[in-house]
Amino acid sequence: MAKHTKRTRGGQIPKASREGTGKLSSLPSIEEMEVQQSGTPVISFRHLTKVYPAQPEKPALEDISLDIYAGEFVFLVGHSGSGKTTFIRLLNREIVASSGTLEVSGENLMNIRGWRIPYLRRNIGCVFQDFKLLPNKTVFENVAFALEVIGKSQAVVETQTPEVLRLVGLESKMDKMPDQLSGGEQQRVSIARAVVNRPPLLICDEPTGNLDPQTSLGIMRLLERINRTGTTIVVATHDREMVDSMRRRVIALENGHVVRDQDRGVYGLDA
Ligand SMILES: Nc1ncnc2c1ncn2[C@@H]1O[C@H](COP(=O)(O)OP(=O)(O)OP(=O)(O)O)[C@@H](O)[C@H]1O
Ligand SMILES: [Mg+2]
Repeated sequence: MAKHTKRTRGGQIPKASREGTGKLSSLPSIEEMEVQQSGTPVISFRHLTKVYPAQPEKPALEDISLDIYAGEFVFLVGHSGSGKTTFIRLLNREIVASSGTLEVSGENLMNIRGWRIPYLRRNIGCVFQDFKLLPNKTVFENVAFALEVIGKSQAVVETQTPEVLRLVGLESKMDKMPDQLSGGEQQRVSIARAVVNRPPLLICDEPTGNLDPQTSLGIMRLLERINRTGTTIVVATHDREMVDSMRRRVIALENGHVVRDQDRGVYGLDA
């Protein structure tokens, strides 16, 4: 049985700034910028266990209980096989938990009706390591398609698509094909596609896994900007440098258990 980890705070923030007393600085203190962890969580795990039928003896996740609130930016870290992708795939109901409960955007995913799942997914943007762009469509068409499949009018498509491509810095590449773009640019397109419908929740599985450090930094800065508009973001990653530089909430998994849950955390030696 997993023991429940208590949320802890990162240890390297000076006390003055933690308590919001750094009056000499005109910048808001980290405490002032912190998201309110109250109200109804966007994501709520209670004693959740996931066992894959192909691996009945070893749960991929076991007895997970935690909450993620609106506006949070959360890193999910851990060794290969620790359960990060399983955690992400549970959130958009790609897979179903074996026991316990999971609520996402007010929906109980343990007994959600099949017809409601597409509506749940409209509230969740997804970004993957391998971009998953449609190779025969232009940048514009790849992003526009995400709106078209949910029945948005041509007028909405024509205003929101260029707007989001501007947000990710690709307005000049709208007519290119994916194979004419760098990896970082392709990931920007996939992020644009994920957020064009303005979902309140964005989940990313190793979004910088195929990118060099400099490009990864650009992607993380972009996710940070999207988070500042109020979008809740969960990022599964191996990218130690990124996690350490961003100092956001870190949930560390080990063999399917949460071994650390830390505000303004670092990647850590144990993950
Ligand atoms: N479809 C599946 N069928 C059976 N077992 C699976 C399946 N997917 C994952 N697992 C197992 O569940 C555990 C967690 O896997 P998961 O993919 O969630 O790990 P991860 O942390 O994302 O790893 P990585 O860093 O390599 O992506 C592993 O033991 C893995 O072998
Ligand atoms: Mg994975």
